Amino acid sequence: MNISEKIVILDFGSQYTQLIARKVRELGVYCEIHPFSVKLEALQDINPNGLILSGGPSSVFESDAPIPGFNVFELGIPVLGICYGLQLTAYQLGGEVDKAAKREYGRATLRIDSFDDLFDGVNAATTVWMSHGDALTAPPKGFEIIAHSDNSPVCAIRSADKQIFGVQFHPEVHHSEQGNIILNNFLRKICKVEAIWSPTSFIEQAIADIREKVGDGGVICALSGGVDSTVLAVLLHKAIGDKLHCIHVDSGLMRLNESRQIYDLFKHHFDISVDIIDAEKLFLDALSGVSDPEKKRKIIGNKFIEVFEVEATKFNDAKWLAQGTLYPDVIESVSVKGPSATIKSHHNVGGLPEKMNLKIIEPFRELFKDEVRAVGRELGVPEWFVNRHPFPGPGLGIRILGDITKDKIVTLQKADEIYLDEIRNAGLYDEIWQAFAVLLPVKSVGVMGDERTYENTAVLRAVTSVDGMTADWYPMPYEVLARMSNRIINEVRGINRVVYDITSKPPGTIEWE
Ligand code: XMP
Repeated sequence: MNISEKIVILDFGSQYTQLIARKVRELGVYCEIHPFSVKLEALQDINPNGLILSGGPSSVFESDAPIPGFNVFELGIPVLGICYGLQLTAYQLGGEVDKAAKREYGRATLRIDSFDDLFDGVNAATTVWMSHGDALTAPPKGFEIIAHSDNSPVCAIRSADKQIFGVQFHPEVHHSEQGNIILNNFLRKICKVEAIWSPTSFIEQAIADIREKVGDGGVICALSGGVDSTVLAVLLHKAIGDKLHCIHVDSGLMRLNESRQIYDLFKHHFDISVDIIDAEKLFLDALSGVSDPEKKRKIIGNKFIEVFEVEATKFNDAKWLAQGTLYPDVIESVSVKGPSATIKSHHNVGGLPEKMNLKIIEPFRELFKDEVRAVGRELGVPEWFVNRHPFPGPGLGIRILGDITKDKIVTLQKADEIYLDEIRNAGLYDEIWQAFAVLLPVKSVGVMGDERTYENTAVLRAVTSVDGMTADWYPMPYEVLARMSNRIINEVRGINRVVYDITSKPPGTIEWE
C-alpha cells in the first residue's frame, strides 16, 4: 500500500510485538513489523519515519542474540528501543548492561526526570509494566537518563542529538497507564508523523489500489458468512461495482438460516447480488459414513473447491480471486507462533487460484482483525454482523462428531441457535470470543415425563481469546446455563443431555475436531 508516512517495528521476538503495531495503528499511524534480520536495502526501500525496536526474550549477552546486520542507529531516523530494544541500544552504543540484574515483572512506578519530548504530558510518577531480566546500569555516552524507578536507576534514556530513545518498560501494554501518551509523543513529536491512518483513509487508498490493480478484469469473492469475506466483498464492490462476482457455497453445514442471512444482507442491505449455490446434497453424499475428522475436513475442502471452480468459470471476465488474508498471517515474525496451525489442516480456498489461472488480490494483507471490523463499520456493515464470532470453514461438519447426517445437522442447528440466542439475551455475546454447540455421538439414558429416553448429548463451548491461538473457557453464569440446558432439552428432539466444556487451549483446541 502506498502510504507516505510510516513506522517500522523491528521484531526481536517479543510476545508484545503485534501489540506495539496495534497501538501505533490505533494512534493513527501506519506501521509494519519486520524481523530484526531485515536487510538494510529493504528497510531503505520502505523509508520509514521512525523505528521501534521491540522487546524480546533474549539477553544481549547470548552468543545467538538477535542483532540486526547493520547499524540501526546510523540511519538518521528516530529510534525507540523497548526493553530488549533498549538493552541492545545500550550494548551497541557503549552503555552498561547488568546481566546479573534482578528480574523485574509486573507493575512499577516510573519517575520522570525530563518532561521534554518522550514524556511530555506524562505524570511525574506513573505506573508502567516491566518484564525484563537484564537491566541498564549506565547509559551510553551522549545519552541522558530521562526516567528511573525504585528498582532501576536507568529506566529511560535519550540522545537528544541523535533522536534515539530507549525505555525499560512496555508502553504498549495496557497496564502502562500512560503508555499511549508516550508512544504518541514518539510518533508525533519525535518522528513528526502527521498522516492519520484510519479506516476512512484505508478505504480511500484501498479502493484506488484495487482499481489500479484489477483494471478491467472481474474479481471473484467467496463469501463464507464470516466478517472478513463480507467486509472484503463490500469494499470490492465499492471499488469495482458489478465486476465483482460473489459466490456463496451452501454446503448444508452452515448454521441455521445462515445462507439466507448472507443473501439478505447482501441483496437488501447492500444491493450486491450473490450466487448462493445449494450444494448440500453433494457435500452430504460425499461425507456419508465418514467419521475421521481429517478425512471429513479434506472432503469438505475438496468439495468446496470443486463446486467453486465450476461456478467461477461461469464468469468469463474473472481474472482475480479475492482473499481475506490478514496481517498476522503475513508477518514474517520471529515471535513463536502457537502450534495450532499445524495441528489441524485448516480449510480455505488454497489450491484454487493456480488451478483456475486466477491472480490473487488480498486487500486486507496489512490489517489486523479489529481494523477489518472498523473498516466494515465504516462501510456500513451492521454492528451485529461486524461483531460475529469466527466460524470455521468446514462449519458444523467438525462440530458433529463422527459421521454426518441431515438429521444430526438439523438437531445441532437447533441446539446451536438456542445456545446463541440465550447468550445474546444475557448480553454476553461480545464478551465471548467464540461460542457454539457440538453434537456428540454419545447416547445416554434420561427420563422425560414418565418416559425413558435414550438420546444424544450436546456440548456447549464458549471461549475467550485474542487470536484463537490460545483460549480460556468462559465462566458462563449458572442461571444462563440453566436456561440454555432447559430450552435445548425441551425444544430439540434428539438431545436429552447438555454438558458445558471447561477445557482451555492448550491443552484442548477450540473446535472438537
Ligand atoms: P482450533 O480448533 O484449532 O481453532 O483451536 C482455532 C480457531 O480456528 C477455527 N478453525 C477453523 N477455521 N477452517 C477455518 O476456517 C478450519 O478448518 C478451522 N478449524 C478451526 C476455529 O473455529 C477457531 O476459531
